[in-house]
Order: sequence, then C-alpha cells, then structure tokens
Amino acid sequence: MTTTFTLGDRTVKRIGYGAMQLAGPGAFGPPKDRDAALAVLREAVRAGVNHIDTSDFYGPHVTNRLIREALHPYPDDLVIATKIGARRGADGSWRPAFSREELAQAVHDNLRNLGLEALDVVNLRVMFSAHGPAEGSIEAPLTALAELQRQGLIRHIGLSNVTPTQIVEGRDICEIVCVQNRYNLAHRADDALIDELTGSGIAYVPFFPLGGFTPLQSSTLSDVARSLDATPMQVAIAWLLRRAPNILPIPGTTSVAHLRENLSAIKLDLPDEATALLNGVAANIGSSD
Ligand SMILES: NC(=O)c1ccc[n+]([C@@H]2O[C@H](COP(=O)([O-])OP(=O)(O)OC[C@H]3O[C@@H](n4cnc5c(N)ncnc54)[C@H](OP(=O)(O)O)[C@@H]3O)[C@@H](O)[C@H]2O)c1
Repeated sequence: MTTTFTLGDRTVKRIGYGAMQLAGPGAFGPPKDRDAALAVLREAVRAGVNHIDTSDFYGPHVTNRLIREALHPYPDDLVIATKIGARRGADGSWRPAFSREELAQAVHDNLRNLGLEALDVVNLRVMFSAHGPAEGSIEAPLTALAELQRQGLIRHIGLSNVTPTQIVEGRDICEIVCVQNRYNLAHRADDALIDELTGSGIAYVPFFPLGGFTPLQSSTLSDVARSLDATPMQVAIAWLLRRAPNILPIPGTTSVAHLRENLSAIKLDLPDEATALLNGVAANIGSSD
C-alpha cells in the first residue's frame, strides 16, 4: 500500500487530521478544553501529519485560530486545506455563502485567521441541499474562486459535497485537485466516483471517515478489529486506505490518545478475508445517518 499521495503539488501522508471537532459542540463556539485542543494539533504535526483539514466556519473562526496558535510558523511540508461556501447563523445553523463577495471575504478571513499569505487548498463546499450532494450549477462560485486563485490567494482548488456532474463542470473551469465528500465503511454512495477519481489522479478526502458525530458501530467491525489486535477505528481507517490509493482520510479527534491510535492505522495490514467481511457489512452498519 502506498503511504503518500500528491495533493496539488505537495506530497502528503495518506492519513491527515480533521480539525472540525476541536471547536465546541456541533463545530460551534469555543472548545471545551482549549489547551487540550492545542495539544492535539501539536501532537499531530509532531507525529508527522502534514495534511490538516479545517474551515473558518468551524467555530466560526475557532479552529483556524487554534491551528495558528498551535502551529504557526508552519512546517514547510504542512498542507492546510480549508473550505468556503457556508457561514454560521447565530444559532449555529449552516447557511450557504456562495456570492462572489462572500467567497472573497471567506478567503481573506481564512488567510488572516491562519496567518497565511496564500491558502494551500480551498474546497468549494456546495450547499444546494442539507442532506448531501444535490445537482445545480457551480459555475458562478467556482469561477469566482478561480479568479481568487489567479490573484495568488489560493494555490489549489477542490470541491466538497458534490455530484459527479458538478465535478465534470468544475474541471472545465479550473484544475480540481481534490474532492471531499462523505464516505466511510457504512456510507458508500461514492464508490463509483472514487474509482473515476483514482484514474484521474484526483485526491478523494472522505469526510466523517469514522462516522462523524456518531462514530461507526458494527459487530463485524469489532470482530475484525479483535482478530487483528487492533481497534475498530484503526480498522475503519485501514479499510479506507486499502479502498483506493487516492483516498486521504482525515479522522478527527479531540484526544491525543485517539490521534496516536488513528495514525498507527497506517501500519495495519488488512488481510483479504477481513476486507471482504468489511465490504459485506456496509449495508447493515450503524453510522450518523
Ligand atoms: N466537507 C464537509 O462538509 C465536512 C463535513 C464534516 C466534516 N468534515 C471534515 O472531516 C473531518 C473528520 O470529520 P469528524 O471529525 O467530524 O468525524 P470522524 O473523523 O468521522 O469522527 C470523529 C469522531 O470519532 C471519534 N474518534 C476519533 N478517533 C477515535 C478513536 N480512535 N476511538 C474512538 N473514537 C474516536 C471522535 O471523538 P474523540 O474526540 O473523543 O476522539 C469524534 O467523535 C472534520 O474534522 C472536518 O475537517 C468535512
């Protein structure tokens, strides 16, 4: 199994880190334990993570400022991927923010809060439906994002929560280096899309790789983990790593112990029989649907 992948023009390790849940409950407000959040970020980089996923709409502004405080000045090899296209209501709700002005504002907010002069990767987070990817043209917002890229504020562009049709539309507008959609052992709507992206060399970054706010639970996952002397979360990550070479999991955690556990999944070799068992339970497994 390959342990690295090229994201944009940088080589990153297959397992990254997702910072969303470092903010308060529901990715809204400040963290429960600020020092613990800073410690997780520092340990991630110390342990070799060089791909961190974030957004200024986590908090809002909370996770980016934690990342800056914990890690700035950043190591040369660290790729920070962010997302724009949404804003938070005063009640924590998620609202589309897709106008040219809102997108430009979001890029400048990310730059300021992360302490960067250019953003490594910006995903346009599409919000046509609250329930997942939904059709609709992304031409206007992506054209606006590509203009910000031409101004030197963004190095690479990705898409999030998108349909295959939107990816085709997007690739006609600018280079797309990654797609970030929901995918895990239990939620496999993107199976065919992943195979297409593997062929195109585009990274696929599954969000909620461990099930999200309600982590994955399955007796088969637990049985396989026990048989391999591993934990269910390590097996869920190893399954993603084995699924396709362009999959870059970004498991999130607020715990240094869980972080270490998750990163060591890179060493877990899933035998064919275990993979077959795990493939078979996708329809029955529980997750945060
Ligand atoms: N593009 C999008 O629309 C979108 C949407 C959602 C998320 N994302 C991105 O995806 C990243 C990952 O998502 P996520 O963090 O919400 O979900 P996740 O990685 O699927 O799961 C995180 C949950 O699993 C628990 N966990 C992690 N490691 C564990 C372990 N070893 N043992 C037991 N429990 C463990 C965490 O609790 P503890 O804190 O207790 O470890 C947390 O509750 C986010 O950080 C964000 O960057 C993107």
